[in-house]
Amino acid sequence: MSIPTISIHRIGEHAGQDVQIKGWLHNRRSSGKIHFLVVRDGTGFLQVVMGKNDVGEEAFKAADHLSQETSLVVRGNVRADARAKGGYELVASGFDVVGQSHDYPITPKEHGVDYLMDRRHLWIRAERQTAILKVRHEVVNAVRDFFNSEGFILADTPIFTPAACEGTTTLFPVQYFDDTTAYLTQSGQLYNEANAMALGKVYCFGPTFRAEKSKTRRHLTEFWMVEPEMAYADLNDVINLAERLVTSVVARVLDKRAAELKFLERDTTKLEAVKTPFPRMTYDDAARLLVEKGMPFQHGTDLGGTDETVLSQQFDAPLCVTHYPAAVKAFYMKSDPQQPDKALCVDVLAPEGYGEIIGGGQRLDDLDILIQRIKDHELPQEAFEWYLDLRRYGTVPHGGFGMGIERVVTWICGLEHLRETIPYPRMLYRIYP
Ligand code: 4AD
Ligand code: MG
Repeated sequence: MSIPTISIHRIGEHAGQDVQIKGWLHNRRSSGKIHFLVVRDGTGFLQVVMGKNDVGEEAFKAADHLSQETSLVVRGNVRADARAKGGYELVASGFDVVGQSHDYPITPKEHGVDYLMDRRHLWIRAERQTAILKVRHEVVNAVRDFFNSEGFILADTPIFTPAACEGTTTLFPVQYFDDTTAYLTQSGQLYNEANAMALGKVYCFGPTFRAEKSKTRRHLTEFWMVEPEMAYADLNDVINLAERLVTSVVARVLDKRAAELKFLERDTTKLEAVKTPFPRMTYDDAARLLVEKGMPFQHGTDLGGTDETVLSQQFDAPLCVTHYPAAVKAFYMKSDPQQPDKALCVDVLAPEGYGEIIGGGQRLDDLDILIQRIKDHELPQEAFEWYLDLRRYGTVPHGGFGMGIERVVTWICGLEHLRETIPYPRMLYRIYP
């Protein structure tokens, strides 16, 4: 009878049984008569105890030369041990080396970030990196489950686009055959609006691109955004949806990824405080608060990263800032009828200083005003004719938002920088590996 191969994260189901683990050697120490190997298999890390008598002289000697990241199959008996990480260890009866690994470049000593980034394809094997990527996986699935359970239809939007959605300064041009320039999408929103007129409630979820020339800890040039859009919706509906999405994502990660958050030493009481309703504040009030806090804030300008940090440190739950000056927001935003210089928009700022995770609002639904806006923003109207059609054929109040996945993962994991939240971050000076 062959021995079953098991995953380390399910080892508890196999106490007392003979099993095999297929993985890589993470590290190793010896005390003369016993080797302690830490083996990882992607699902977890496991201590393997290897005594000379259990595996025989030859294998025992060979094990003394195993180097970091050697791939190997280890056989043994699962033993419960309260002292072991995870509560179990494997008492080895034998092993086979699958692939050698010589001079693995990432050792347990400290390495600089650039060094690690250049070796990102290997760095992702580290326990901290796998924990973050598992949280990301949970966030993505929580987002999908949320929208699917709320009756939203997934309708994907194109990545090659003919025009800007979020301002012309951060477009990535691509040669599209001989004589056309296409741009990598900055946001699926405009197509999402068309999809909402067809399907009611929709979402798109994919990579988006911004040629952000600034080197900040919050900006990637390629990031993942989920964007819901609803027909017959106003700003209030948009904010309510954002609140429910964020709370459900946080609750899901707390529930399913407690071990990863613990490894990352995340203070989860901060995440447990994320409950609806979120505090709301207009841009004018936010501006006043910033000045009170001694920030050199210029009323009428957009909130900068530091402003967002200061604001979001004031609250335990995410903060919804609404009614920004229309002048600092995108062309498609509807103005507040009560105060036409303000946009019916919302930015959700994550607490603890993490800054903007969501941007959205109610869309301009009037044809003539939209045409004027396109002119004011010096956008090519021909490229937007299809978008204008949505206002020609049965226009309705509608709105939605975009939530950046890497920003959310950064906040939930409590990280300094976005770069660890995606397997291969793309930034101003970084496109390798
Ligand atoms: O606020 P933004 O620019 O909004 C839009 O793109 C809208 N069209 C979305 C919509 O209404 N459908 O971007 C939305 C979110 C931000 O709140 C942030 O979380 C994330 O996308 N984001 C970035 N994340 C990483 N790197 C960047 N360079 C980002 N730019 C925006
Ligand atoms: Mg924004």
